[in-house]
Amino acid sequence: MAKTNKLELIHRPRRLRRQPSRRALVTETVLRVEDLIAPLFVVDGKGRPEVIASMPGVFRLNIADLVKECRELHALGVPAVALFPKLDAKLKDEEGTEALNPDTLVLRAVRAVKKAVPELSVITDVALDPYTSHGHDGVLTEAKDDVDNDRTVIILGKMAVLQAEAGVDFVAPSDMMDGRIGAVRKALEAAGFSDTGILAYSVKYNSAYYGPFREAVGSAQAAGTRLLSKATYQMNPANRREAVREMQLDVAEGADIVMVKPAGPYLDIIREVRNNARLPIAAYQVSGEYAQIHAAAKLGWLDLVRCRDESLLAIKRAGADMILTYFAKEVAKALR
Ligand code: PBG
Repeated sequence: MAKTNKLELIHRPRRLRRQPSRRALVTETVLRVEDLIAPLFVVDGKGRPEVIASMPGVFRLNIADLVKECRELHALGVPAVALFPKLDAKLKDEEGTEALNPDTLVLRAVRAVKKAVPELSVITDVALDPYTSHGHDGVLTEAKDDVDNDRTVIILGKMAVLQAEAGVDFVAPSDMMDGRIGAVRKALEAAGFSDTGILAYSVKYNSAYYGPFREAVGSAQAAGTRLLSKATYQMNPANRREAVREMQLDVAEGADIVMVKPAGPYLDIIREVRNNARLPIAAYQVSGEYAQIHAAAKLGWLDLVRCRDESLLAIKRAGADMILTYFAKEVAKALR
């Protein structure tokens, strides 16, 4: 009998990869435009879009330009935006007083966007970092050596009510104080906002990947100083079991959607949360993840578009139902 090089194999996974149509049939994960949430930065005044050096293609927009951007995102089918204000340094103080100004920048931005594009869902951060001179997410203890949990939570409840009044669809507590989801839910109920949802930054790590964002909102002044470490409230990157605990607490306190952040370096955490939660899960592909892909592409070391798409597909595959990403607009265009 003639010798052949053929192995006697029953199982050949490559059969399913033989041609594009076969590969299409067995695709397990699909990224949809409906999965995307666009984070946007807003500034006061009438100036031109401001460049953020470490985030190519992302700008700080005045309210009129922000509204225009929101119309475009809506027309592309992106269901939601998350708004972040960049305040003038002179509006910041130790207590983050400006956060409770009923006419503060982000609230004016929300009203303008909801008026122009009511169908677009609007999400706002509930945390003090854009408003505090020290850049922390809350107010400090008397000894000024840490963020005061309980005093901060009371302020966050008031902030959430102001955002609900301005018309947001979801408030997004991103501060990692204990008990804030319950306090925010209670404050919203007491003010009659039972339809305003809570997208909880439930599993938020103390990550170096937030660097470019802190430049974007100007919350980085104290970076490098002992005080700006957020390690006493954001999670230790070494911990996975604790992610489930944080998620379960937020679910019990009334979260509607739970979030994991960052996303790419924490795919195992997204999966862990997915396996233990019944609620929808959001993941935040943060500024540093975006910057990393752009930087390598700029050096000619990585293919921007393919890495962009692969990074988002991986986050979805890990178990995220929705993704906050600075790539939202260009991916929405590409998916058309
Ligand atoms: C603030 C906040 C941060 C981000 C979203 N909300 C930064 C921080 O906690 O210091 C980071 C987003 C990004 O890096 O894209 N509470």
